[in-house]
Amino acid sequence: MTLSFISSSADMTLALGKAIGETVEPSTVIALDGDLGAGKTLLSRGIAGGLGVTTPVSSPTFTIVNEYEGGRIKMYHFDTYRLSDSYEFEAAGLDEYFGYGGLCVIEWSNIIDDILPEDSLRINIEGVSSSRTFEATGPDGKIGMLKNAAVKAGCEFI
Ligand SMILES: Nc1ncnc2c1ncn2[C@@H]1O[C@H](COP(=O)(O)OP(=O)(O)OP(=O)(O)O)[C@@H](O)[C@H]1O
Ligand SMILES: [Mg+2]
Repeated sequence: MTLSFISSSADMTLALGKAIGETVEPSTVIALDGDLGAGKTLLSRGIAGGLGVTTPVSSPTFTIVNEYEGGRIKMYHFDTYRLSDSYEFEAAGLDEYFGYGGLCVIEWSNIIDDILPEDSLRINIEGVSSSRTFEATGPDGKIGMLKNAAVKAGCEFI
C-alpha cells in the first residue's frame, strides 16, 4: 500500500511523529529517506516523544545507532549516512537490532535498502521552505497506522 500527504510545518511533522510513537507496534522498522534537512531527525524526535522517551533525541552521527529506553517500546535510532553499503551495516552486527522487538527508526535507509525487512514502513520526505511531502509504502496495517497519525497531526492528503 502507498500513502502521500503534506506536512506544512516543523511542528506538524513533530506532531506526526508523536502520533506514530503513540500507536506504533513493537518490532516495527521505519525506514526514512530524504535529503539533508528533509525532517528525518525531527520526525524521529516526535516518535520518541510519542513513545514516552524523555531523553533528547539527536542524530546518532558518531555511533550509527542510539538506543532510547524509558518509553512504551525501546527505540533504536539509526543514521546510516556515513556507511557505504549494507555489508558494513551487517559486518558491525547492526542488523541484529531488527530482531530485538523494539522500534527501529533508520535515517538514510536507502543505503541499506537491500537488507531492510520486507515489512518495513518506508517513508520518503521531500520539500522546500516549510512544506514537506511524505510518500510512504508498506504493509496495510502500518500504512493504516501512519494514516491515522497523519490525520491526528492535521496533514493534508494528496
Ligand atoms: N514541514 C516540516 N517538516 C520537517 N521539518 C521542517 C518542516 N519545515 C521546516 N522544517 C525544518 O527542516 C529541518 C529538518 O531538519 P532535520 O534535522 O530533521 O532533517 P534531517 O532529514 O534529519 O537531515 P539530515 O539528513 O541532515 O539528518 C529543521 O530545521 C526543521 O525546522
Ligand atoms: Mg537527521
